[in-house]
Amino acid sequence: DTKILKVNPLSIIFSPDAHIDGSLPTITDPETEAALVEAARIIRDTDETVAFPTETVYGLGGSALNDNSVLSIYKAKNRPSDNPLITHVSSIDQLNRKVFNQPHLSGTSLFDNIPSIYRPLISSLWPGPLTILLPVPSSEHSALSKLTTADQPTFAVRIPANPVARALIALSDTPIAAPSANASTRPSPTLASHVYHDLKDKIPIILDGGACKVGVESTVVDGLCNPPMLLRPGGFTYEEIVKLGGEAWSLCKVENKKTVEKGEKVRTPGMKYRHYSPSAKVVLLVPHCEGDGILKGADRMERLKRLIETELKANRNIKKIAILTSLKLRDSDLQSKIFNEPDFSSKTFIIERLGQSGEEIQTNLFAALRKVDENDKVDLIFVEGINEEGEGLAVMNRLRKAAANNCIQF
Ligand code: TXA
Ligand code: MG
Repeated sequence: DTKILKVNPLSIIFSPDAHIDGSLPTITDPETEAALVEAARIIRDTDETVAFPTETVYGLGGSALNDNSVLSIYKAKNRPSDNPLITHVSSIDQLNRKVFNQPHLSGTSLFDNIPSIYRPLISSLWPGPLTILLPVPSSEHSALSKLTTADQPTFAVRIPANPVARALIALSDTPIAAPSANASTRPSPTLASHVYHDLKDKIPIILDGGACKVGVESTVVDGLCNPPMLLRPGGFTYEEIVKLGGEAWSLCKVENKKTVEKGEKVRTPGMKYRHYSPSAKVVLLVPHCEGDGILKGADRMERLKRLIETELKANRNIKKIAILTSLKLRDSDLQSKIFNEPDFSSKTFIIERLGQSGEEIQTNLFAALRKVDENDKVDLIFVEGINEEGEGLAVMNRLRKAAANNCIQF
C-alpha cells in the first residue's frame, strides 16, 4: 500500500544561507512536519524509497549512501542500472560531511570540493535545477554508493530549490539519490497523482506538495571536460548557463548525440533508452527554421489534415486523436478544418493547450502528455513543436524522445 501524505511547501522556511551552512528549516504546519519526519526516517534508516516533489519533477529518493536503497530505486522504476543517478544534497556543508567525509571544512574552504569552473554557476543557480558533475571521491574517503554512478569516474549532484525536497534531505541528513519518480520510459511526473499511477504498491510513501513549477528535469552540465558541456538541457536554459557561468562557459557545447553504438560508453547514459513515452504513438510537428518559409494558417491545417489521413490509413483502429498545441495552431482553425471534416466524422479529437510562452509549455508538457494518454486514452498524439531557443531546447529534447522517430517538418 502506498500512502499519499499532503505537505505544504509554504510552511517550510529556510534561512537565506541554509543551502551553504546546512541550517535546518522551521516548519510551521504540524501535518507537514510529521510527514517529513516519517519520510526522513525511511530515507535514513531503511532500504526503502520515498517519492517527493522537487521544483523540476517528482523524484524517487533513497539514501545515496546505501546500496540497498539505490537498488530499491532501480527496482521500483524498473530502470536499467547502467544509467547513473543524481545525488541530491541540502547544502554544501552536507556535501562535505556526507559525500566527501570532510566534516571540518568551514568558511572559504567550504567550497574546496567544487572545482572553480562551477562556482559562478552555483552561486547564481543553487538551490535550483542545475546538476553538476564532480569527480567520484575514492571509496576509502566516501560512503557514496557505487551504484549511483554506474561506474562513471564522476557523480552528478544538485541542491534542489523546492522546500519539501530540501527539508527531506536536511531532516534525514542523508544525500538522496533520486531519478524522476516515473516508471522507466514513461513521461516524468509533475503531480503526485502521476507518481501514484506509475508506482502504486511499489513504494511506501508519496509526499504530495502540489504541481512542480519548472516541469522538466534539471540542466546537467559537465565542467570537468574542455570545453565544458551541457549534457542535458533542462530547467535552466543554455543561454542562462552561458550568461551566468563566466568566461569558461561561453565556450559551452551542447551534447547532441542522438544515438549510440552498441557497447559504446556514453556520457549521458539516459539517451540510450526509450524515454518520456506515452502508450499512444506521438507525432512531433517540428517547426521550420526561421526564414525557411513558415506555413501560414490555412496551409498548416491542410498539412495537418493530410498527416492525420496518413496515420489513419496506416492504422484503422485509431479512434481518438489528441492535438497538443502551443503557439501557432488556432482553436478556430482546428474546429473548422479538422474536427468538422466529414472524413473524420467517426473520430474523436481532443485539443490540449500547452501554453503561449516557452516557460508555460515547459511547465505543462509532461502533464499534458499524461492526461491525453492516461485519462483520455487517445490512440494518437500530435504535438506542435517550438523553436529550440530558451526553454525550447529542453522542450524539444523531451518531445523528440517521446516521439521516437516520428518527427515531421511542419
Ligand atoms: O530534475 C532532476 O534532475 C530530477 C529531479 C528528481 O531532481 N532527477 C532526474 O534524474 O532527472 P534522472 O536520473 O532521471 O536523470 C539523471 C540524468 C541522466 O540523464 C543521467 O544519465 C545523468 O543525469 N547523469 C547522472 N550521473 C551522471 C554522470 N556521472 N555522468 C553523466 N551523466 C550523468
Ligand atoms: Mg528520468
